[in-house]
Amino acid sequence: MGLFSKENKAGQVDLNNLPCHVAVIMDGNGRWAQKRGLPRSAGHKAGAETFRKLGTYCKNLGIDYLTVYAFSTENWKRPKDEVDGIMHLLEQYLHECIDTMEKDGNRLRFLGDLSVLTPELRELIDETNEISSRIEGFQANVCLNYGGRDEILHAARAFARDCAAGEQDADALTEEGFSRYLYSSGLPDPDLLIRPGGEKRISNYLLWQCAYSEFYFCDTLWPDFTEREFDKALIAYQHRERRFGGLKQEKQK
Ligand code: IPE
Ligand code: IPE
Ligand code: MG
Repeated sequence: MGLFSKENKAGQVDLNNLPCHVAVIMDGNGRWAQKRGLPRSAGHKAGAETFRKLGTYCKNLGIDYLTVYAFSTENWKRPKDEVDGIMHLLEQYLHECIDTMEKDGNRLRFLGDLSVLTPELRELIDETNEISSRIEGFQANVCLNYGGRDEILHAARAFARDCAAGEQDADALTEEGFSRYLYSSGLPDPDLLIRPGGEKRISNYLLWQCAYSEFYFCDTLWPDFTEREFDKALIAYQHRERRFGGLKQEKQK
């Protein structure tokens, strides 16, 4: 039985068929700024605002996990002032989270190689982790210095070390067992992956986890991405038939 939301702006999102986990590649910040004659940093600031707004939207809809790509292992190739600006924005965001997440009931988790971040940023992340451990409910995951290949390598190294220490048996390794070595350990795989910004590629995002995710691409630049746009992605997802390699599900008699 489909229950159609009344308060939802689209009026068409089936609240009984929501994805549990939505992943987003937050792309198009730079072009958004360029179009307005603004520095790229203004685009990243506007993009951070969109993330805040959509996090609240997901939580209110009843989606359990929103995972966003904030900075990739490849993004270090950008000019130093852009990278510094993004890291500074993150610090500001984390200060804000520390003040509000408990009250709002929002958990926050970071996925990626955090070892190269500044001690200040790492301390702030530790603080949000500590607060998150006391909260239940909606969780936002921020992929930071994250690369899908880096994640798999990192996991493979850790697994190999455990084998050498006699704690694991290589021949007994399962997909589930390997998943526990990933940065995303314990998270369900994303049901829906959204990429705004016009590009139709995965850019080294959640390579293992998106094996059976539904993909939604659109041209809207991330800072312009609205709740209505998010509804469109959800509706598209709800019209997909997920078979996972099997056959179409017959209706239950
Ligand atoms: C995504 O927006 C944010 C990061 C990669 C940090 P971009 O900065 O890639 O924006 P475009 O793609 O240049 O417009
Ligand atoms: C992907 O966007 C990374 C993030 C959104 C953080 P990019 O802008 O870095 O991806 P490419 O370079 O277009 O593939
Ligand atoms: Mg980009």
